[in-house]
Formats: sequence, C-alpha cells, structure tokens
Amino acid sequence: MRVDGVITPPGDKSITHRALMLAALARGSSMIHDPLGAADTRTTAGIMRRLGAAVSRLRDGKGVRVLGRRWRAPSETLHCGNSGTTARLLLGLLAAHPFTSRLSGDRSLRRRPMRRVTEPLSEMGARIAEHAGDGLPLTIRGGTLRRIRYQSPVASAQIKSALLFAGLFGGVGVSVTEPHRSRDHTERLLRYLGAPIRVSGTTVSIPAGEFRPEGFEITIPGDPSSAAFFVALAVLADKGELIVRNVGLNPTRAGFLRVLQRMGGKVSIENPRDVAGEPVADLVVRPSRLRATVVHAAEVPSLIDEIPVLAIIAARSAGVTEFRGVGELRVKESDRLALLASNLERLGYDVAIQGDTLAVQGDPDHAPIGRVVTASDHRLVMALGVLAKTDGARIALSERSSAGVSYPGFFSVLQGVVSP
Ligand code: S3P
Repeated sequence: MRVDGVITPPGDKSITHRALMLAALARGSSMIHDPLGAADTRTTAGIMRRLGAAVSRLRDGKGVRVLGRRWRAPSETLHCGNSGTTARLLLGLLAAHPFTSRLSGDRSLRRRPMRRVTEPLSEMGARIAEHAGDGLPLTIRGGTLRRIRYQSPVASAQIKSALLFAGLFGGVGVSVTEPHRSRDHTERLLRYLGAPIRVSGTTVSIPAGEFRPEGFEITIPGDPSSAAFFVALAVLADKGELIVRNVGLNPTRAGFLRVLQRMGGKVSIENPRDVAGEPVADLVVRPSRLRATVVHAAEVPSLIDEIPVLAIIAARSAGVTEFRGVGELRVKESDRLALLASNLERLGYDVAIQGDTLAVQGDPDHAPIGRVVTASDHRLVMALGVLAKTDGARIALSERSSAGVSYPGFFSVLQGVVSP
C-alpha cells in the first residue's frame, strides 16, 4: 500500500466543546476559528442554544460566533447524543446554575457512568436525581455550592473539568488531584481567558470567587486523536510519505506519538508553534518497520482515545504489545476492550485480556480477513477502517457512519491518500 499526500485533521474535539461552553457563558461575543463541526460538537452547540446562548451554525473548519448570555432553565430535556464530554462538563456548569435540567443521551451514552461526576458535584451541594442507576437520564438542580478538595479515583479530564467549571461559575474554591495527569485543555483554556488557575503536580486548583470570561477569539488546533488514524496508515504503508498539518501536540495528549516512535515509527515533527496556549506542529510520516512495546498504565491517560488505533498498529508489528491499565476502555462509547479483542480475533490475531491488560500478538505478515462489528463506536470503526487498507487485508465493516461523531468525511480522506 502506498500512502501519500497532505492532510489537515479537523479541529480538536475536546477544545471545541470547552470553547463553545465557555463562550456561551462569556460576557459578549466570541469567535471560534477552525472548530470541529461533527456530531458531538454540534450536540454541545445545540445545548448551548437551548440554555440561552446564540450560536451560529457549526460547520467543520468554519468559524462559529457565540453570543454568551446568563443561562435560563431549559424547557426540554437536554439530549447529549453520543457525547460523554458534553454530558459530564455540562453537569459541572449546571451545578452552578439555580434551575432544574434533565439530561439524557443515546443508548451508548445512557450506559456510561455519571456518578464519577455527580458524586463530587452532590458533595459540593448540587441536587441530582438519577432515573436509571449510574447513568443518564438524570435531573440536576444547581445553586449555592460549597468548596471541595477532591481526590479523583480515575485520571479523567471530564471529572476534573466538571468540578473546575462548577467552582468557577459557582464562585467556590476547587482542588482536584488525579492519580495521573489527564489532558489539560481546560486548564490551558482557562488560563488563556485569564482565570486564576494553579497547577502543582497532579493537583489543579482555583480559588473562591466568581469568574465570568469576557468574549474571546480563539483558533482550535487540529485533533491529535483524529490525526492518529492517518499517522498509523502512513507508518503501516510500504511506500510514500504523508504530511499531517496542524496537529495539536499537547504533552498530555501526545502519548500516541511517543509510543509509536518507541515502536520504530518514522514520524518527524516540523514547524512547532503555539496556538492559543496549545503546542501545534506538522508531522511528516514515513513507512516504518515496527516492533512491539509495553504501554504502561501511567501513559494511558495521554493516549486513552488512541488505543484502538495503537492496537491495530500492534497487530501489524512484530511481537506482543501489552497495554496495561486500560480498564477505562470498558466505559467508552462502547466496551472498547471487549470489542477490540473480539474484532482482532475475528481477523485471525491472538489477543488476550487479563484484568486491565490487553495483549496483542502482532504479525506484520498476517493478512487480516473477516467481518468486524463496531457497535457504532467512531474510534473503533476508524481504526479498523485503517487496518482494512493495509496490504492483503479484506475486512468488511458493519457500519461507517459513526466516524461522523468526530471526523466528518473520514472515509473519503482515507480513500484519497491510499493507492495500491
Ligand atoms: C475527554 C476526556 C477523555 C477522553 C474523551 C474526551 C475530554 O475522557 O476519552 O474522549 O474532552 O475531556 P475521560 O476524561 O473520561 O478519560
């Protein structure tokens, strides 16, 4: 397979969600350049409108204008679709607002755990009623909050961000300590907007006192998780060279590149620069001879969304690659741990799950052939879509449309850079 060309991944999903939410609460008008205009971020934009903000049409890569307002009680259930980030960050913001909202989501989101966020928010004083155990739908009534010092059992940027948002807009001090550092886009964005945020090791804190940003202008860097599929494709090729432009290289997100370079991946980082407090660069990726590695639990938060695509790379590399401490994959858009293992097995690979460790026996010469089932999980379908392009592969995908959750046009971009 030959892979060449120049591509630019869509805007970062995590940062687009955060920018939309903060702009919807800012004083005055904001402009967000190069946002991700995909299903998940359109869900956030729609909810911001329901809460009172004026948000222009969100189209991929086109600027979106947001007029912030004091939020008002929504008249209907806030549907968070497939988006865990929307639901969890929104709970933090709603905890600071003195009205009642009901949140729900699609089948996948309704089974994802929410207590990890609702428990500390309840401790802060939000009143939350569950309607179906640990998940959506639920009802939240925010209002006067108490300060919290929270020791999070999981490294999760969604938990951390929800609590920071509750504290900032509720005017109370918050400190969150994580077992490992999760992505720090919220911290960077808040600092960019002038909020008083402190970071020390794995603890992030804000002092008491209400914060409301002024309207702002921001450019969103390309999403490293979306770029990862094309980086994978180009290292698995045997000819060509792919340039992936404008990729966010925040160290708390760059675990994929570090692991890939350790496996022998030829990726060079060019033209490094800063975009609104986030490091960004262009990547030049070449065909590579890859060997297995061990991905340690401490690295997992920095590559949590890239494990499906790393597992595909591992399958086409020599030796056994171990992913340790990846239990969180069970509660993503699907049970990614089980589905990754069962799909790789269907394609003829030896895979084992032991506790929270996934082990993939790679073989660069094995041709993966079979039908895979991706349960509408965008990252699984894109990872397997990449594997399907590699030499000798004959893979039937059960669906492709879920790629639109985070990467509009993914399969046509894929088609455009591959040749035999
Ligand atoms: C995200 C955080 C991660 C990640 C998700 C986006 C965010 O989830 O998997 O895709 O934008 O904060 P956790 O915080 O649950 O690890």
